[in-house]
Amino acid sequence: MSPPSKFTFFKPLLSRILLIGFFFLTFQSLVQTQFTSDQNFLPLSYPLAIRSPYLNAWQSIPTGITSLTHDWPIHWNDQIFGWIGFVRIDGVPWIWLGKDSEKKIATIQSSKVTPTRSVFTLSAGNMALTITFFSPIETEDLTRQSIPFSYLSFECHSNDGVEHEVDVYTDTTAEWISGDRSNFANWTTNVTGAAVIHSATREARQAMVETSGIAEDATVYYAMANVDGITYQSGGATDVRDQFSNQGSLNNQTDSNFRAINNKFVVFGIAVNLGRIVSTSQPVVWGLGLFRDPITTYGSDSESRRPYFFSDPQFAGKSVQDVVEFSLEDYSTAVQRANQLDDKIQADSKELSLGDGGQYYNLVAMAARQAAAIDITCQDNGTNGTDIKAFLRNTGFDTFMCCHSRSVSDVSTLYANFPALLYLNSSWGGYLLDSLLQYQSSPSYGNRYAAPNLGSSYPLALGNARDTTPESMEDTANMLVMVLAHARISGDGSLIEKYYNLLKKWADYLAANAVHPKNQVSADNLATSVSDSSKIAMKAIIGVGAMAQISRAFSNSEDEMNYQSNAIMSATQWKSLALSAESIKSTYGDTDSYALMYDLYADLLLGTGLFDQDVYNAQSAMIQSATGGQFGIPIDSNSGRLTRSSWLMLVAGSLSKTNNTTENQLINSIFTRCVAR
Ligand SMILES: *[C@@H]1O[C@H](CO)[C@@H](O)[C@H](O)[C@H]1NC(C)=O
Ligand SMILES: *[C@@H]1O[C@H](CO)[C@@H](O)[C@H](O)[C@H]1NC(C)=O
Ligand SMILES: *[C@@H]1O[C@H](CO)[C@@H](O)[C@H](O)[C@H]1NC(C)=O
Repeated sequence: MSPPSKFTFFKPLLSRILLIGFFFLTFQSLVQTQFTSDQNFLPLSYPLAIRSPYLNAWQSIPTGITSLTHDWPIHWNDQIFGWIGFVRIDGVPWIWLGKDSEKKIATIQSSKVTPTRSVFTLSAGNMALTITFFSPIETEDLTRQSIPFSYLSFECHSNDGVEHEVDVYTDTTAEWISGDRSNFANWTTNVTGAAVIHSATREARQAMVETSGIAEDATVYYAMANVDGITYQSGGATDVRDQFSNQGSLNNQTDSNFRAINNKFVVFGIAVNLGRIVSTSQPVVWGLGLFRDPITTYGSDSESRRPYFFSDPQFAGKSVQDVVEFSLEDYSTAVQRANQLDDKIQADSKELSLGDGGQYYNLVAMAARQAAAIDITCQDNGTNGTDIKAFLRNTGFDTFMCCHSRSVSDVSTLYANFPALLYLNSSWGGYLLDSLLQYQSSPSYGNRYAAPNLGSSYPLALGNARDTTPESMEDTANMLVMVLAHARISGDGSLIEKYYNLLKKWADYLAANAVHPKNQVSADNLATSVSDSSKIAMKAIIGVGAMAQISRAFSNSEDEMNYQSNAIMSATQWKSLALSAESIKSTYGDTDSYALMYDLYADLLLGTGLFDQDVYNAQSAMIQSATGGQFGIPIDSNSGRLTRSSWLMLVAGSLSKTNNTTENQLINSIFTRCVAR
């Protein structure tokens, strides 16, 4: 199969902001600039360490705040992580991360967000600090991509040209390893020639359990290469932090009084004495890893699956501690790769010139780390690198689906994330689809249509054989579209070959119902079941059209002809039912109804060409005349004032050949939400 001819840049979509789900479109005052930033981009929440659903830390910076210390870093769902940073300058301690009301506060001078990094420059007395939170996206190396490890680095230079005595310190608590902080933790510190490595885990780990979004079976690692001037300590937060503040170094002691995480919060500190300097000659780098093994129990056979990197021969028989040492040593080459990726994404984004002054690039930079934070697994024996499966957890709030949905590889979430995955490395999309497809081609799955997810208790991926008829058309069409998109962008037809019969069964289900969906609900509005939804019909028709292309790739020309003629006929009928002069009715026959027809993006992307320019024009006209809020247009006429940035972004993408003014307006509204306080 040949890759697609030429598409406009795929708009990477998923992010805390974009996936945060459904926003209330309330009017808010414009944000006041509080410190300078690259391209005036001041997101409400900065990504700090984002490598997996559980290594997922953010820092919010509300209006009027010019430090990283107004509050603790948080998990995507607001759980606190005690993560703190101090610098002592000529014996005076300053705080630059976390919370401690008694210290002098380093103030932010500027900030920058790139796809892999959030960078802050701060001033602390006579020193200027550069703090970088770095979460690699390893598009060319699946082993590295599957290692849930992130970096925090510190650099400084003197503002007055004079040498100053500088000591720097960070620690973190054990809050990464349980959502219930009254649980007991065990910990240890390993000092080798190469590194100082603290680690902590629950005393009674609970496999495949999470509490408030935090995994109960993870081990957190806080580590640094064994550099000159390093000291370390574990112990009660007050003791260890006071030790550094007073002495400028730690005592290399460890606390062996294992206790509850929140009982005199144990912290894992690492400090470096930099001596009298005008500036750092190289960054001081801490590493933060959060490892789970196994990652999931998958499918009807309850297969236990491990982190993918263990299938790499270089880690055969190695421990996670070895992986941590590897990652610390890997830092400087990881920075080089990240520079290349950041530059490429920036150049590709800017080429589109979307949004005012680089807004589109800023959104992509916000989204990229979260889009890549998937769990990538291999088989349990740890040596089989050929069977790769990935799993996605929704790390955004989802009002309609109620709160913090723990769906495993939720199809609608995956659909929103898919353009980003296709751009970063389309194979990753294949690993995510494969886990869904393999389960649904097993005898334990009997439905004629696609499942909405692999279960609702991430990280347990046992499958979902429930009869979910009301959502079935949307999920089924999404799957066909993604399978085709993966094959076309990656040039890899293996999923089509392996699962052709399953895909055909799904397409037949859609073909029979496409124009008149009966009692269907959409993930956008789970509460309401409707018939004759033109939005679901459009999606289904594109799904059938995708199957025609899938059949062509499989060299089955009879199937290709059947599906193609079904899709074309259905699209013609659709047009006569749904299109009125200026708008697309979202329910046939209801002239007041409207909806974001975001699946036109798939029609354009895949070149199914089922919907003609009239339809694209009507969508564009609808956006122009709609009375939305500053954050965009509501999802549909039944959604009140709610919308979703990921769908707005798909709509923008679908209009890239129709009306760039409208496209830009949409990008602008998504950006406005991203920076709104
Ligand atoms: C994408 O990832 C796969 C491994 O999953 C790798 O073999 C391939 O080279 C990567 N593609 C690119 C373009 O880097
Ligand atoms: C490796 O995985 C493939 C694909 O699932 C499977 O066919 C093969 O039997 C596995 N090999 C081993 C040694 O487990
Ligand atoms: C594009 O949209 C803008 C406003 O959003 C409108 O003023 C303009 O007429 C539209 N252009 C076309 C060709 O429809």
